[in-house]
Amino acid sequence: MANDASAAFDTLSPAVSKGSLADPFTPPADSSLWRKNFLLGAATASYQIEGAVDEDGRLPSIWDTFSATPGKVLAGDTGAVACDHYHRWEADIDMLASLGLEGYRLSIAWPRVMDAAGRPNRKGLDFYKRLLNRLKEKGITSFVTLYHWDLPQHLEDRGGWLNRDTAYRFADYTDLMSRELAGTVDAWATLNEPWCSAYLGYGNGHHAPGLANDRFATQAMHHLLLAHGLAIPVLRGNDPASQKGIVANIGRGTANSDSAADQRAAHLFEVQHNAWILDPLLKGEYPQDLFELWPGTEPLVLDGDMRTIAAPLDFLGINYYFRTNVASDGAHGFRDVPLEGVERTQMGWEVYPDGLRDLLTGFKKTYRNLPPIYITENGMASDDKVIDGHVDDAQRISFLKRHLAAVDQAIKAGVDVRGYFLWSLMDNFEWAFGYERRFGVVHVDYSTQKRTVKRSAELVAKFLKERKARV
Ligand code: FCB
Repeated sequence: MANDASAAFDTLSPAVSKGSLADPFTPPADSSLWRKNFLLGAATASYQIEGAVDEDGRLPSIWDTFSATPGKVLAGDTGAVACDHYHRWEADIDMLASLGLEGYRLSIAWPRVMDAAGRPNRKGLDFYKRLLNRLKEKGITSFVTLYHWDLPQHLEDRGGWLNRDTAYRFADYTDLMSRELAGTVDAWATLNEPWCSAYLGYGNGHHAPGLANDRFATQAMHHLLLAHGLAIPVLRGNDPASQKGIVANIGRGTANSDSAADQRAAHLFEVQHNAWILDPLLKGEYPQDLFELWPGTEPLVLDGDMRTIAAPLDFLGINYYFRTNVASDGAHGFRDVPLEGVERTQMGWEVYPDGLRDLLTGFKKTYRNLPPIYITENGMASDDKVIDGHVDDAQRISFLKRHLAAVDQAIKAGVDVRGYFLWSLMDNFEWAFGYERRFGVVHVDYSTQKRTVKRSAELVAKFLKERKARV
Protein backbone atom coordinates (compact mmCIF):
# COMPACT_ATOMS: atom_id res chain seq x y z
CA MET A 1 0.00 0.00 0.00
CA ALA A 2 1.16 3.55 -0.70
CA ASN A 3 2.71 5.41 2.19
CA ASP A 4 0.85 8.63 1.85
CA ALA A 5 0.98 10.13 5.32
CA SER A 6 2.21 13.58 4.32
CA ALA A 7 -0.55 13.98 1.74
CA ALA A 8 -3.05 12.87 4.35
CA PHE A 9 -1.85 15.59 6.64
CA ASP A 10 -2.94 18.25 4.20
CA THR A 11 -6.49 16.94 4.39
CA LEU A 12 -6.75 17.96 8.05
CA SER A 13 -8.07 21.38 8.84
CA PRO A 14 -5.13 23.83 8.86
CA ALA A 15 -5.84 24.79 12.45
CA VAL A 16 -5.62 21.18 13.59
CA SER A 17 -2.52 20.33 11.60
CA LYS A 18 -0.68 23.39 12.90
CA GLY A 19 -1.74 22.48 16.43
CA SER A 20 -3.17 25.97 16.88
CA LEU A 21 -6.62 24.87 18.02
CA ALA A 22 -6.92 25.08 21.78
CA ASP A 23 -8.29 21.55 22.09
CA PRO A 24 -8.90 19.48 19.00
CA PHE A 25 -9.61 16.32 21.01
CA THR A 26 -12.27 16.78 23.70
CA PRO A 27 -15.50 15.01 22.72
CA PRO A 28 -18.70 17.04 22.35
CA ALA A 29 -20.91 17.48 25.41
CA ASP A 30 -23.44 14.85 24.30
CA SER A 31 -20.82 12.12 23.73
CA SER A 32 -21.11 8.87 25.70
CA LEU A 33 -17.39 9.24 26.30
CA TRP A 34 -18.23 11.60 29.13
CA ARG A 35 -19.82 8.73 31.05
CA LYS A 36 -17.51 8.03 33.94
CA ASN A 37 -17.91 4.28 33.61
CA PHE A 38 -16.67 4.34 30.00
CA LEU A 39 -13.17 2.96 30.54
CA LEU A 40 -10.40 4.82 28.72
CA GLY A 41 -6.98 3.18 28.78
CA ALA A 42 -3.91 2.24 26.79
CA ALA A 43 -2.56 -1.07 25.53
CA THR A 44 0.81 -2.74 25.00
CA ALA A 45 2.10 -6.29 24.43
CA SER A 46 4.99 -8.15 26.04
CA TYR A 47 7.28 -8.77 23.06
CA GLN A 48 6.75 -5.25 21.76
CA ILE A 49 7.93 -3.46 24.91
CA GLU A 50 9.67 -5.70 27.45
CA GLY A 51 13.11 -6.51 26.00
CA ALA A 52 15.19 -8.61 28.45
CA VAL A 53 14.63 -11.61 26.22
CA ASP A 54 17.09 -13.88 27.96
CA GLU A 55 16.90 -12.62 31.49
CA ASP A 56 15.61 -14.40 34.59
CA GLY A 57 15.01 -17.67 32.80
CA ARG A 58 12.90 -16.41 29.88
CA LEU A 59 12.96 -18.93 27.05
CA PRO A 60 13.08 -18.01 23.35
CA SER A 61 9.80 -17.25 21.60
CA ILE A 62 8.89 -17.60 17.93
CA TRP A 63 9.40 -13.84 17.58
CA ASP A 64 13.00 -14.07 18.79
CA THR A 65 13.63 -16.69 16.13
CA PHE A 66 11.70 -14.88 13.39
CA SER A 67 13.24 -11.46 14.01
CA ALA A 68 16.73 -13.00 14.02
CA THR A 69 16.07 -14.43 10.54
CA PRO A 70 17.47 -12.06 7.88
CA GLY A 71 14.84 -10.32 5.78
CA LYS A 72 11.87 -10.95 8.05
CA VAL A 73 11.77 -7.64 9.96
CA LEU A 74 12.43 -4.17 8.57
CA ALA A 75 16.01 -3.02 9.23
CA GLY A 76 16.73 -6.31 11.02
CA ASP A 77 15.11 -4.97 14.21
CA THR A 78 14.33 -7.38 17.06
CA GLY A 79 12.57 -7.18 20.43
CA ALA A 80 15.81 -7.89 22.34
CA VAL A 81 15.74 -4.47 24.04
CA ALA A 82 12.52 -2.86 22.77
CA CYS A 83 11.38 -0.23 25.33
CA ASP A 84 13.35 -1.97 28.10
CA HIS A 85 10.07 -2.09 29.98
CA TYR A 86 11.19 -5.16 31.95
CA HIS A 87 13.55 -2.82 33.82
CA ARG A 88 11.60 0.42 33.52
CA TRP A 89 8.13 -0.83 34.38
CA GLU A 90 7.76 1.28 37.52
CA ALA A 91 8.42 4.54 35.72
CA ASP A 92 6.16 3.41 32.85
CA ILE A 93 3.27 2.70 35.22
CA ASP A 94 3.85 6.08 36.91
CA MET A 95 3.63 7.67 33.46
CA LEU A 96 0.40 5.81 32.67
CA ALA A 97 -1.08 6.93 35.99
CA SER A 98 0.09 10.52 35.55
CA LEU A 99 -1.85 10.67 32.28
CA GLY A 100 -4.96 9.71 34.21
CA LEU A 101 -5.49 6.60 32.07
CA GLU A 102 -7.96 4.34 33.84
CA GLY A 103 -7.17 1.04 32.18
CA TYR A 104 -4.04 -0.78 31.11
CA ARG A 105 -4.05 -3.71 28.71
CA LEU A 106 -0.84 -5.72 28.84
CA SER A 107 0.14 -9.22 27.83
CA ILE A 108 2.09 -11.95 29.56
CA ALA A 109 5.05 -13.55 27.83
CA TRP A 110 4.36 -17.28 28.04
CA PRO A 111 8.10 -18.14 27.64
CA ARG A 112 8.90 -15.92 30.62
CA VAL A 113 6.66 -17.68 33.12
CA MET A 114 6.81 -21.40 32.26
CA ASP A 115 9.65 -23.75 31.44
CA ALA A 116 9.58 -26.40 28.73
CA ALA A 117 8.36 -29.02 31.21
CA GLY A 118 5.42 -26.81 32.21
CA ARG A 119 6.93 -25.78 35.56
CA PRO A 120 6.52 -22.18 36.75
CA ASN A 121 9.43 -19.76 36.40
CA ARG A 122 9.17 -17.80 39.64
CA LYS A 123 11.29 -14.84 38.53
CA GLY A 124 9.16 -14.26 35.46
CA LEU A 125 5.96 -14.66 37.43
CA ASP A 126 7.16 -12.18 40.05
CA PHE A 127 7.61 -9.54 37.37
CA TYR A 128 3.93 -9.69 36.47
CA LYS A 129 2.85 -9.92 40.11
CA ARG A 130 4.72 -6.73 40.96
CA LEU A 131 3.30 -4.99 37.91
CA LEU A 132 -0.30 -6.03 38.57
CA ASN A 133 -0.08 -5.15 42.25
CA ARG A 134 1.18 -1.71 41.32
CA LEU A 135 -1.72 -1.20 38.91
CA LYS A 136 -4.11 -2.20 41.68
CA GLU A 137 -2.50 0.27 44.11
CA LYS A 138 -2.95 2.99 41.51
CA GLY A 139 -6.57 2.06 40.89
CA ILE A 140 -5.92 1.19 37.23
CA THR A 141 -8.16 -1.50 35.71
CA SER A 142 -6.03 -4.33 34.32
CA PHE A 143 -6.81 -6.23 31.12
CA VAL A 144 -4.38 -9.11 30.75
CA THR A 145 -3.92 -10.93 27.46
CA LEU A 146 -2.48 -14.41 27.86
CA TYR A 147 -1.25 -14.77 24.30
CA HIS A 148 -0.11 -11.83 22.22
CA TRP A 149 1.90 -13.89 19.72
CA ASP A 150 5.07 -14.83 21.65
CA LEU A 151 4.68 -18.62 21.53
CA PRO A 152 7.52 -20.49 23.26
CA GLN A 153 9.87 -21.68 20.52
CA HIS A 154 9.99 -25.19 22.02
CA LEU A 155 6.26 -25.53 21.24
CA GLU A 156 6.78 -24.31 17.68
CA ASP A 157 9.49 -26.93 17.35
CA ARG A 158 6.73 -29.49 17.94
CA GLY A 159 4.43 -27.96 15.34
CA GLY A 160 3.20 -24.83 17.12
CA TRP A 161 -0.44 -24.03 16.39
CA LEU A 162 -0.54 -26.76 13.73
CA ASN A 163 -0.27 -29.25 16.59
CA ARG A 164 -3.50 -29.78 18.52
CA ASP A 165 -1.42 -30.42 21.64
CA THR A 166 -0.50 -26.70 21.76
CA ALA A 167 -4.13 -25.93 22.69
CA TYR A 168 -3.82 -28.20 25.74
CA ARG A 169 -0.45 -26.65 26.65
CA PHE A 170 -2.19 -23.25 26.49
CA ALA A 171 -4.86 -24.48 28.90
CA ASP A 172 -2.09 -25.59 31.32
CA TYR A 173 -0.41 -22.19 31.01
CA THR A 174 -3.77 -20.48 31.62
CA ASP A 175 -4.31 -22.64 34.69
CA LEU A 176 -0.94 -21.65 36.13
CA MET A 177 -1.38 -17.96 35.44
CA SER A 178 -4.92 -17.72 36.74
CA ARG A 179 -4.00 -19.57 39.95
CA GLU A 180 -0.97 -17.35 40.51
CA LEU A 181 -2.55 -14.03 39.54
CA ALA A 182 -6.15 -14.50 40.71
CA GLY A 183 -7.47 -11.36 42.35
CA THR A 184 -5.02 -9.00 40.64
CA VAL A 185 -6.54 -9.13 37.13
CA ASP A 186 -9.79 -7.35 36.29
CA ALA A 187 -10.24 -8.89 32.84
CA TRP A 188 -8.52 -11.79 31.10
CA ALA A 189 -8.31 -12.11 27.34
CA THR A 190 -7.20 -15.52 26.16
CA LEU A 191 -5.81 -14.58 22.72
CA ASN A 192 -4.94 -11.41 20.88
CA GLU A 193 -6.07 -11.44 17.25
CA PRO A 194 -6.17 -15.13 16.32
CA TRP A 195 -6.58 -13.96 12.69
CA CYS A 196 -3.05 -12.57 12.74
CA SER A 197 -1.59 -15.61 14.51
CA ALA A 198 -3.25 -18.00 12.06
CA TYR A 199 -3.18 -16.09 8.78
CA LEU A 200 -0.06 -13.91 9.04
CA GLY A 201 1.82 -16.62 10.95
CA TYR A 202 0.82 -19.74 9.00
CA GLY A 203 -1.13 -18.50 5.94
CA ASN A 204 1.08 -15.86 4.30
CA GLY A 205 4.20 -16.00 6.45
CA HIS A 206 4.49 -12.28 7.18
CA HIS A 207 4.64 -13.00 10.93
CA ALA A 208 6.31 -15.68 13.05
CA PRO A 209 6.66 -18.57 12.53
CA GLY A 210 6.62 -17.55 8.85
CA LEU A 211 4.79 -20.44 7.18
CA ALA A 212 2.65 -19.86 4.10
CA ASN A 213 -0.19 -22.26 3.32
CA ASP A 214 -3.98 -21.62 3.48
CA ARG A 215 -4.63 -25.09 4.83
CA PHE A 216 -2.15 -24.43 7.66
CA ALA A 217 -3.95 -21.16 8.42
CA THR A 218 -7.36 -22.79 8.90
CA GLN A 219 -5.91 -25.59 11.03
CA ALA A 220 -3.86 -23.15 13.14
CA MET A 221 -7.02 -21.05 13.61
CA HIS A 222 -8.94 -24.08 14.79
CA HIS A 223 -6.30 -24.93 17.38
CA LEU A 224 -6.07 -21.30 18.52
CA LEU A 225 -9.84 -21.12 19.00
CA LEU A 226 -9.81 -24.48 20.74
CA ALA A 227 -7.09 -23.17 23.08
CA HIS A 228 -9.34 -20.21 23.83
CA GLY A 229 -12.37 -22.42 24.46
CA LEU A 230 -10.41 -24.73 26.77
CA ALA A 231 -9.04 -21.74 28.71
CA ILE A 232 -12.35 -20.01 29.46
CA PRO A 233 -13.65 -22.57 32.02
CA VAL A 234 -10.18 -22.75 33.57
CA LEU A 235 -10.29 -18.98 34.13
CA ARG A 236 -13.83 -19.22 35.51
CA GLY A 237 -12.73 -21.88 37.98
CA ASN A 238 -9.56 -20.15 39.18
CA ASP A 239 -10.56 -16.49 39.13
CA PRO A 240 -14.35 -16.21 39.28
CA ALA A 241 -14.54 -12.47 39.97
CA SER A 242 -12.73 -11.40 36.78
CA GLN A 243 -14.17 -10.84 33.31
CA LYS A 244 -13.22 -13.38 30.62
CA GLY A 245 -13.00 -12.74 26.91
CA ILE A 246 -10.93 -12.73 23.74
CA VAL A 247 -9.57 -10.02 21.45
CA ALA A 248 -10.28 -10.10 17.71
CA ASN A 249 -9.05 -7.76 15.00
CA ILE A 250 -11.79 -6.85 12.57
CA GLY A 251 -11.59 -5.39 9.10
CA ARG A 252 -14.04 -3.38 7.03
CA GLY A 253 -14.22 -4.44 3.41
CA THR A 254 -16.06 -2.24 0.93
CA ALA A 255 -16.85 -3.02 -2.70
CA ASN A 256 -15.14 -1.12 -5.49
CA SER A 257 -18.35 -1.07 -7.53
CA ASP A 258 -22.02 -1.98 -7.38
CA SER A 259 -21.46 -5.09 -9.47
CA ALA A 260 -22.64 -8.32 -7.89
CA ALA A 261 -19.13 -9.74 -8.22
CA ASP A 262 -17.53 -6.86 -6.31
CA GLN A 263 -20.27 -6.91 -3.65
CA ARG A 264 -19.60 -10.60 -3.19
CA ALA A 265 -15.85 -9.87 -2.96
CA ALA A 266 -16.45 -7.37 -0.13
CA HIS A 267 -18.63 -9.93 1.63
CA LEU A 268 -15.90 -12.57 1.31
CA PHE A 269 -13.31 -10.12 2.64
CA GLU A 270 -15.37 -9.69 5.81
CA VAL A 271 -16.00 -13.43 6.06
CA GLN A 272 -12.26 -14.01 5.92
CA HIS A 273 -11.42 -11.25 8.41
CA ASN A 274 -14.36 -11.30 10.80
CA ALA A 275 -16.77 -14.23 10.50
CA TRP A 276 -13.91 -16.75 10.40
CA ILE A 277 -13.33 -15.90 14.08
CA LEU A 278 -16.64 -14.51 15.32
CA ASP A 279 -18.91 -17.23 13.89
CA PRO A 280 -17.17 -20.08 15.74
CA LEU A 281 -17.03 -18.01 18.94
CA LEU A 282 -20.60 -16.76 18.85
CA LYS A 283 -22.45 -19.31 16.69
CA GLY A 284 -20.33 -22.42 17.20
CA GLU A 285 -19.69 -22.95 13.48
CA TYR A 286 -17.30 -21.88 10.74
CA PRO A 287 -18.76 -19.74 7.93
CA GLN A 288 -19.11 -22.04 4.91
CA ASP A 289 -18.23 -19.15 2.55
CA LEU A 290 -14.69 -19.31 3.89
CA PHE A 291 -14.15 -22.64 2.18
CA GLU A 292 -15.52 -21.27 -1.06
CA LEU A 293 -12.76 -18.68 -0.86
CA TRP A 294 -10.17 -21.30 0.06
CA PRO A 295 -11.52 -24.57 -1.34
CA GLY A 296 -10.36 -27.74 0.39
CA THR A 297 -8.99 -26.04 3.49
CA GLU A 298 -11.52 -27.30 6.06
CA PRO A 299 -9.68 -27.94 9.32
CA LEU A 300 -9.81 -31.21 11.18
CA VAL A 301 -12.49 -30.66 13.85
CA LEU A 302 -13.12 -33.28 16.53
CA ASP A 303 -16.48 -33.96 18.19
CA GLY A 304 -17.27 -31.36 20.81
CA ASP A 305 -14.68 -28.81 19.61
CA MET A 306 -17.22 -26.30 18.35
CA ARG A 307 -19.13 -26.40 21.62
CA THR A 308 -15.86 -25.83 23.52
CA ILE A 309 -14.98 -22.88 21.27
CA ALA A 310 -18.40 -21.25 21.73
CA ALA A 311 -18.03 -21.00 25.54
CA PRO A 312 -19.99 -17.94 26.72
CA LEU A 313 -17.89 -14.75 26.97
CA ASP A 314 -18.13 -11.85 29.42
CA PHE A 315 -16.70 -9.47 26.85
CA LEU A 316 -15.42 -9.31 23.30
CA GLY A 317 -12.32 -7.21 22.65
CA ILE A 318 -12.29 -5.53 19.26
CA ASN A 319 -9.17 -4.13 17.54
CA TYR A 320 -9.91 -1.87 14.60
CA TYR A 321 -7.51 0.00 12.32
CA PHE A 322 -8.66 0.53 8.70
CA ARG A 323 -10.81 -0.46 5.77
CA THR A 324 -9.88 -2.26 2.60
CA ASN A 325 -11.55 -1.52 -0.71
CA VAL A 326 -11.86 -4.70 -2.77
CA ALA A 327 -12.97 -6.02 -6.13
CA SER A 328 -13.59 -9.52 -7.39
CA ASP A 329 -10.40 -11.32 -8.43
CA GLY A 330 -12.32 -12.92 -11.28
CA ALA A 331 -12.32 -16.31 -9.54
CA HIS A 332 -13.50 -17.20 -6.01
CA GLY A 333 -11.92 -14.34 -4.11
CA PHE A 334 -11.14 -10.66 -3.75
CA ARG A 335 -8.26 -8.34 -4.53
CA ASP A 336 -7.36 -5.02 -2.89
CA VAL A 337 -8.06 -1.90 -4.92
CA PRO A 338 -6.41 0.94 -2.94
CA LEU A 339 -8.45 4.13 -3.15
CA GLU A 340 -6.77 7.29 -4.37
CA GLY A 341 -6.93 10.59 -2.51
CA VAL A 342 -7.92 9.23 0.87
CA GLU A 343 -6.21 9.99 4.16
CA ARG A 344 -3.63 7.39 5.17
CA THR A 345 -1.26 6.80 8.08
CA GLN A 346 2.47 5.95 8.18
CA MET A 347 1.43 2.30 7.70
CA GLY A 348 -0.37 3.24 4.49
CA TRP A 349 -3.63 2.26 6.21
CA GLU A 350 -6.70 4.30 5.28
CA VAL A 351 -8.21 6.40 8.06
CA TYR A 352 -11.85 5.28 8.03
CA PRO A 353 -13.68 5.73 11.36
CA ASP A 354 -17.10 4.88 9.87
CA GLY A 355 -15.85 1.33 9.40
CA LEU A 356 -15.67 0.86 13.15
CA ARG A 357 -19.21 2.09 13.63
CA ASP A 358 -20.59 0.05 10.73
CA LEU A 359 -18.91 -3.16 11.85
CA LEU A 360 -20.11 -2.78 15.44
CA THR A 361 -23.70 -2.10 14.45
CA GLY A 362 -23.51 -4.95 11.90
CA PHE A 363 -22.28 -7.42 14.54
CA LYS A 364 -25.16 -6.47 16.79
CA LYS A 365 -27.55 -7.54 14.03
CA THR A 366 -25.66 -10.70 13.09
CA TYR A 367 -24.95 -12.06 16.56
CA ARG A 368 -27.89 -12.11 18.94
CA ASN A 369 -25.59 -13.11 21.81
CA LEU A 370 -22.99 -10.39 21.13
CA PRO A 371 -21.23 -9.82 24.48
CA PRO A 372 -20.37 -6.37 25.85
CA ILE A 373 -17.56 -4.88 23.81
CA TYR A 374 -14.29 -3.19 24.66
CA ILE A 375 -12.30 -1.59 21.89
CA THR A 376 -9.03 -3.18 22.96
CA GLU A 377 -6.92 -1.45 20.28
CA ASN A 378 -7.28 1.53 18.02
CA GLY A 379 -4.64 4.01 16.97
CA MET A 380 -2.22 4.95 14.23
CA ALA A 381 1.45 5.20 13.32
CA SER A 382 3.09 8.44 12.33
CA ASP A 383 6.69 9.49 11.83
CA ASP A 384 6.72 11.51 15.06
CA LYS A 385 9.70 13.68 15.96
CA VAL A 386 10.60 15.40 19.21
CA ILE A 387 11.06 19.11 18.49
CA ASP A 388 12.04 21.38 21.38
CA GLY A 389 10.94 18.70 23.81
CA HIS A 390 7.47 18.28 22.25
CA VAL A 391 5.80 15.93 19.80
CA ASP A 392 2.93 17.51 17.89
CA ASP A 393 1.09 14.44 16.56
CA ALA A 394 -1.81 16.35 15.01
CA GLN A 395 -2.93 13.55 12.71
CA ARG A 396 -3.21 11.14 15.66
CA ILE A 397 -5.25 13.64 17.69
CA SER A 398 -7.72 13.97 14.85
CA PHE A 399 -7.69 10.19 14.25
CA LEU A 400 -8.53 9.43 17.89
CA LYS A 401 -11.23 12.05 18.05
CA ARG A 402 -12.94 10.68 14.94
CA HIS A 403 -12.73 7.06 16.04
CA LEU A 404 -14.08 7.88 19.47
CA ALA A 405 -16.95 9.68 17.74
CA ALA A 406 -17.59 6.47 15.75
CA VAL A 407 -17.70 4.52 19.01
CA ASP A 408 -20.17 7.04 20.41
CA GLN A 409 -22.36 6.60 17.33
CA ALA A 410 -22.31 2.82 17.79
CA ILE A 411 -23.28 3.19 21.44
CA LYS A 412 -26.15 5.49 20.47
CA ALA A 413 -27.25 2.86 17.93
CA GLY A 414 -27.54 0.38 20.79
CA VAL A 415 -24.17 -1.43 20.84
CA ASP A 416 -22.90 -2.08 24.36
CA VAL A 417 -19.36 -0.66 24.15
CA ARG A 418 -17.84 -0.25 27.60
CA GLY A 419 -14.34 1.04 27.00
CA TYR A 420 -11.54 1.93 24.62
CA PHE A 421 -7.78 1.30 24.77
CA LEU A 422 -5.40 3.40 22.73
CA TRP A 423 -2.82 1.45 20.78
CA SER A 424 -0.34 2.13 22.13
CA LEU A 425 0.87 3.59 25.40
CA MET A 426 4.28 4.12 23.84
CA ASP A 427 6.15 3.61 20.58
CA ASN A 428 7.35 0.02 20.39
CA PHE A 429 8.46 -2.94 18.25
CA GLU A 430 5.86 -3.01 15.49
CA TRP A 431 6.38 -6.66 14.47
CA ALA A 432 7.57 -7.00 10.84
CA PHE A 433 7.97 -3.18 10.66
CA GLY A 434 10.39 -2.99 13.59
CA TYR A 435 10.86 0.39 15.28
CA GLU A 436 10.20 2.58 12.25
CA ARG A 437 6.43 2.75 12.79
CA ARG A 438 5.48 4.80 15.84
CA PHE A 439 2.06 3.97 17.31
CA GLY A 440 2.56 5.41 20.80
CA VAL A 441 0.88 8.33 22.50
CA VAL A 442 4.26 8.55 24.22
CA HIS A 443 7.41 8.86 22.11
CA VAL A 444 10.36 6.57 22.83
CA ASP A 445 13.92 7.53 21.89
CA TYR A 446 15.43 4.06 21.45
CA SER A 447 19.01 5.28 21.88
CA THR A 448 18.37 6.72 25.37
CA GLN A 449 15.01 5.10 26.28
CA LYS A 450 13.72 8.59 27.03
CA ARG A 451 9.93 8.83 27.02
CA THR A 452 8.28 12.05 25.77
CA VAL A 453 4.55 12.47 26.17
CA LYS A 454 3.05 13.39 22.79
CA ARG A 455 0.42 16.10 22.38
CA SER A 456 -2.25 13.41 21.84
CA ALA A 457 -1.59 11.95 25.30
CA GLU A 458 -1.67 15.40 26.85
CA LEU A 459 -5.10 16.01 25.37
CA VAL A 460 -6.44 12.61 26.45
CA ALA A 461 -5.14 13.38 29.95
CA LYS A 462 -6.79 16.80 29.89
CA PHE A 463 -10.12 15.26 28.91
CA LEU A 464 -9.89 12.57 31.59
CA LYS A 465 -9.11 15.20 34.21
CA GLU A 466 -12.13 17.24 33.18
CA ARG A 467 -14.35 14.16 33.19
CA LYS A 468 -13.14 13.17 36.64
CA ALA A 469 -13.83 16.66 37.98
CA ARG A 470 -17.44 16.56 36.78
CA VAL A 471 -20.08 16.04 39.40
C1 FCB B 1 -2.32 -5.19 16.04
C2 FCB B 1 -1.52 -5.86 17.12
C3 FCB B 1 -0.70 -4.92 17.95
C4 FCB B 1 -0.10 -3.80 17.13
C5 FCB B 1 -1.15 -3.15 16.24
C6 FCB B 1 -0.63 -2.00 15.42
O1 FCB B 1 -2.58 -6.08 15.01
O2 FCB B 1 -2.38 -6.56 18.00
O3 FCB B 1 0.26 -5.67 18.64
O4 FCB B 1 0.99 -4.24 16.45
O5 FCB B 1 -1.71 -4.11 15.41
